[in-house]
Amino acid sequence: MRSLKSHEIESLVREAMEARDQAYAPHSHFYVGAALLVEDGTLYRGCNVENASYGLTLCAERTAAAAAVAAGHRSWRAVAIASVGGVTPCGACRQFLAEFGTDVPILCVDTVSGKRTQFHLGKLLPDVFAFEEL
Ligand code: THU
Repeated sequence: MRSLKSHEIESLVREAMEARDQAYAPHSHFYVGAALLVEDGTLYRGCNVENASYGLTLCAERTAAAAAVAAGHRSWRAVAIASVGGVTPCGACRQFLAEFGTDVPILCVDTVSGKRTQFHLGKLLPDVFAFEEL
């Protein structure tokens, strides 16, 4: 996999921050944005979308992933997630993202301090259940 260039990282971070502005989180007030860079250089955005029936809530990572897949992109280069504290993806999102590759770097951005921490999906979700096992 090609390593990320600094301008690609900056675009990812900026898009994730901007995506966060669209987060619909009237229940938790925890706003999350995500941006996903695909092979041809296009960026797809996502934000969390909550629901009065709490369990229906969609996380930012999954809405970004669904946007990329719906546009025909299943080969991803990186994902950025922006939130207060720079949280890592929840367990469900780890599994969801892993469907499309466990070597995708995940960049978690703290919107307050600006701190960025890079994770590897293979490390966040070791021994993943994958469709090869079906
Ligand atoms: N959330 C995300 O969008 N991504 C994460 O990685 C963690 C949690 C959302 C779901 C819910 O709307 C809110 O944050 C609180 O859990």
